[in-house]
Amino acid sequence: MQKRIISLFLAIMLTTVLAVSLTACKTAQNNENTTGGQTETTQTEQNDSTKIAVVFFSATGTTAEAANLIADETGAARFEIVPQEAYTPEDLNYTDDNCRANQEMGDTSARPAIKNDLSQAAEYDTIYLGYPIWHGTAPRIIQTFLENYNLNDATVYLFCTSGGSGVEQSIQDLQRSYPDINIAGGKRFNGADEAEAKEWLDGLK
Ligand SMILES: Cc1cc2nc3c(=O)[nH]c(=O)nc-3n(C[C@H](O)[C@H](O)[C@H](O)COP(=O)(O)O)c2cc1C
Repeated sequence: MQKRIISLFLAIMLTTVLAVSLTACKTAQNNENTTGGQTETTQTEQNDSTKIAVVFFSATGTTAEAANLIADETGAARFEIVPQEAYTPEDLNYTDDNCRANQEMGDTSARPAIKNDLSQAAEYDTIYLGYPIWHGTAPRIIQTFLENYNLNDATVYLFCTSGGSGVEQSIQDLQRSYPDINIAGGKRFNGADEAEAKEWLDGLK
């Protein structure tokens, strides 16, 4: 009789231990799945929305509008290159030979300072870099940006707005000055045209 009681007790103990172990196993598995799922979601979100950046300089807002279109279309993060010293209308009055913008463009070593920290922008895989055309090419502050931050691991697309000049000269100039940057293409926008932006971006896919 005593033996049977001991056997029964042992059987109950064994079943309990088994049940507890199984539950623990299952919980651990669930946690793993949840964690795995979360990690995957985060990565997917990053892949979809954060690997592309639009970085731009705009003195009077036109390039900013084109930048917004590209950011909306691609889901890219948006970074504005803000000059330490904002450009006044007098600074931009290119009919005056001595205006600040003309002086900078006439001086190949001019590197107007940037006010904000753009180190995060340089970490993206694909970067759309935009600017207004000044004297046929990119403003010097774009060179400040490219010399302050290393974009050598990124694919860079240039875009510009202008009164009529194309983007080609600026592509050539920047590629010659910074041969290690992978400039994969460029586009001039005639203001902010959603259809034009979409067509260009679709063509790059
Ligand atoms: C100093 C200066 C030089 C410019 N040079 C040119 C030029 O060579 N060719 C051109 O088509 N437009 C030129 N423009 C016009 C700008 O490229 C155009 O207005 C641009 O869309 C302005 O962009 P933003 O509003 O983003 O600054 C010049 C403008 C400035 C202020």
